[in-house]
Amino acid sequence: MPSKSGTLQIIGILAPRKMRIRQIRCPNIGIRIGLTDYHKLKILPKPNASTSFPGMKEAVDSLRLFTKKPAQMKIRYIDFIQQTYEFPQDEFRVDGDQLYFNDISMMELVKKFGTPLKFFYLPNISRNINRARSWFKKAIRENNYQGQYHYCYCTKSSHFSFVLKKALQNGIHIETSYATDLDIIKRLEKSGDFNKEKKVICNGFKTDQYLQRIGEMHRDGYNIIPVIDNPFELSKISEEVDGQIDIGIRIAAEEEPKFEFYTSRLGIGYKDILPLYKNRIQKNEKLNLRMLHFFINTGIRDNAYYWNEFFKCLRLYVELKKISPGLNSFNIGGGFPIKNSLAFEYDYEYMIDEIVYQIKKFCKNEQVEEPDIYTEFGSYTVGESGGAVFKILNQKQQNDREKWNMIDSSFMTNLPDSWALSKRFILLPLNKWEDAYERVFLGGLTCDSDDYYNSEQHINAIYLPQYRASKPLYIGFFNTGAYQESLGGFGGMQHCLIPNPRILLIDRDEEGKLSYDVFSEQQSPDSMLKLMGY
Ligand SMILES: Cc1ncc(COP(=O)(O)O)c(C=O)c1O
Repeated sequence: MPSKSGTLQIIGILAPRKMRIRQIRCPNIGIRIGLTDYHKLKILPKPNASTSFPGMKEAVDSLRLFTKKPAQMKIRYIDFIQQTYEFPQDEFRVDGDQLYFNDISMMELVKKFGTPLKFFYLPNISRNINRARSWFKKAIRENNYQGQYHYCYCTKSSHFSFVLKKALQNGIHIETSYATDLDIIKRLEKSGDFNKEKKVICNGFKTDQYLQRIGEMHRDGYNIIPVIDNPFELSKISEEVDGQIDIGIRIAAEEEPKFEFYTSRLGIGYKDILPLYKNRIQKNEKLNLRMLHFFINTGIRDNAYYWNEFFKCLRLYVELKKISPGLNSFNIGGGFPIKNSLAFEYDYEYMIDEIVYQIKKFCKNEQVEEPDIYTEFGSYTVGESGGAVFKILNQKQQNDREKWNMIDSSFMTNLPDSWALSKRFILLPLNKWEDAYERVFLGGLTCDSDDYYNSEQHINAIYLPQYRASKPLYIGFFNTGAYQESLGGFGGMQHCLIPNPRILLIDRDEEGKLSYDVFSEQQSPDSMLKLMGY
């Protein structure tokens, strides 16, 4: 007979079943039994309860009952995640039955700030910028590459002041798409967040207004580089500037074979660029061709399509460089991927090393100086800082197999990429990780039949902890920081007038202390009604 906290040998009951039971409670006899391995039971006294052992027989009986249950049923949500992915991951972990994102308790956020809620965890902006920089630095050093690397942020991914200010704190340059971007830059200069040394690379099909602003800013001493999208822009820019301006040319990439179009509408076709340079730029004293730019719509990927386009652009760079001495910059655009699933795998370091190595090798063979490399990472800069948090309001069982968990906002308005492009984000529950899971569909509040979310990136379904009205379920979409407000709108009218959620900014100081700042409150009905003339 074991003493107070002794060990009981029960070989023969547990060993053949290989069960792993963490604890068995026998409240009626005042003990808890913790299992230390398959053969031994440790008898733990229940606090404030009698620890004498007359109830031993009942304890063992209840244990026998337990062993009759099917062994090792993995029905908890945490089991599902651990069986499907490597988990925990750098930024996600679970404590108790709750999710932590970058060591922030998501349920604490819910308690303090409510739902629906959008948040930006700003340190991830700096983290990603500095990671890319360090990979380029390493690749440049290891390949003995002679050019420099310049990180630009593509403003259209998120124009919010807090995003630009955080990015600029890391010494980046800016890439713009439209005239209004230039007003943003002027404001940032005024507030001391931007200085004129930084480069402003102007992309896009340029309206007169955009071209005029470029001229103004050039005259004002900004380091501005318009990237020519079409030949019409050349004469207008020449008219707008005093003295000489550095320009770039955007190559119109050939689209991936499965795309609807053959050549991108953006930029100038490969074959037309050399003649354009010879006829319109070479002898124009106001224009100095400095940059060749391309952007591959499907992103920077280690596949045949990407490398094929990349080498076409590199070949053109080398040909142009031989007749255009001012050319010294090769801009590979945006398209650096971000984590859209717990199964995401991408070897950033390898890809950057390969890009640097290939440019070096190509230029060496052609006996051309290696160019400075520019990137214009948008999603990569800001995507992994953003998140959206919702409460499941209720569950509708529409037939035997279809359970709809209704969120307290809308997918169409908050995560427009999810319906327009069927884009997927990381989706995780914030609580109830110890509860059993079930397959569900997620529905938004608008009455639009497209306002739903029904699959993950790598699983053609959604699994979440079982809905129970008595214990509300909260869910989060992560890495949603890029494009969602630019496309879905911020303020203004909304589909079915579902308001924009509150936006919360989270930052961390050098000592690791977190700060929370509400950037905007949930959109008020009044603000919408006013816009519509009520
Ligand atoms: C010219 C240019 N540069 C950069 C980007 C940013 O791309 P991403 O957000 O994929 O990095 C885009 C996106 O459309 C673009 O058109």
